Amino acid sequence: MSVPAVGGTDPEGSQGLTSSYTYEDIERIAQALLARTKHRPVLGIICGSGLGGLADIVEDSDTIPYSEIKDFPVSTVPGHMGYLVFGMLSGKSVVLMRGRFHYYEGYPMWKVAMPVRVMKQMGVKTLFVTNAAGGVNPNYKAGDMMIIKDHIDLPGLTGECVLIGKNDERFGPRFPATVDIYDSKLRALAAEIGKELGYGDYMREGTYIMIGGPTFETVAESRLLRLFGADAVGMSTVPEAVVAKHGGIRTFGISLITDMCSFEYEETQATTHEEVLAMGEMRAKDMQKLVSLMVERMEL
Ligand code: HPA
Repeated sequence: MSVPAVGGTDPEGSQGLTSSYTYEDIERIAQALLARTKHRPVLGIICGSGLGGLADIVEDSDTIPYSEIKDFPVSTVPGHMGYLVFGMLSGKSVVLMRGRFHYYEGYPMWKVAMPVRVMKQMGVKTLFVTNAAGGVNPNYKAGDMMIIKDHIDLPGLTGECVLIGKNDERFGPRFPATVDIYDSKLRALAAEIGKELGYGDYMREGTYIMIGGPTFETVAESRLLRLFGADAVGMSTVPEAVVAKHGGIRTFGISLITDMCSFEYEETQATTHEEVLAMGEMRAKDMQKLVSLMVERMEL
């Protein structure tokens, strides 16, 4: 089996359930990054499929490919480039991940979310997470944007929570509460700005459910996700949000609904990755405007 990337102190690149990055490893990676940029980011942004264009509006930027960061994983999905962008966005110092890591690529959950710990160690206090998602709520349509109000950690509920393993209290508490995982003030700010920008018809707020992927849902699975109370489904975001919460980082998440799940056998429409990327491109500018105004107006 080929192992995607080496992580932490384990020379083989542990693929087990528990993190092989120690606190000292994370600190070392954070310091190595800070040595390569004059920026001191307070906001971290993780770009979802087709939404990496946000990086283009970061000013005075320093770009560092993942491949140049010792012990950092590398992204393997088309549409997900692999670099960190440090710079200024709407007057605030940011670090942006262009390209994220997914469980379905073969990374264990802790490796998917490790960049959030590195961000925290660099001084990040707020995290914005964007993703592409399938619409589960029958009232949604492709092209909608959904502010994430809450999530369902399906892998976590079935034993693959990102925080499994020995807990180092320097990262956060053993049993973190997650009731308020998506900051209510930032959600309200996003809704207000969305209205102002005239996005009212396609701005939603709902519950995101994470599946492991890489298969898109069967009809029966889509029906199950709807029964669970999910409004949108995707293959990311949850591990990063959980690690952020664990570390005391305030989180805002937004999904771009790139396609609708199929609930009837007669009307099935196979979702393709190309469709997901194309919708990302179509709404990319809208998302950029929303995020840059939020960053401008949010309190640090
Ligand atoms: N399911 C899971 N992930 C997705 C989907 C979907 O339908 N669309 C975009 N990302």
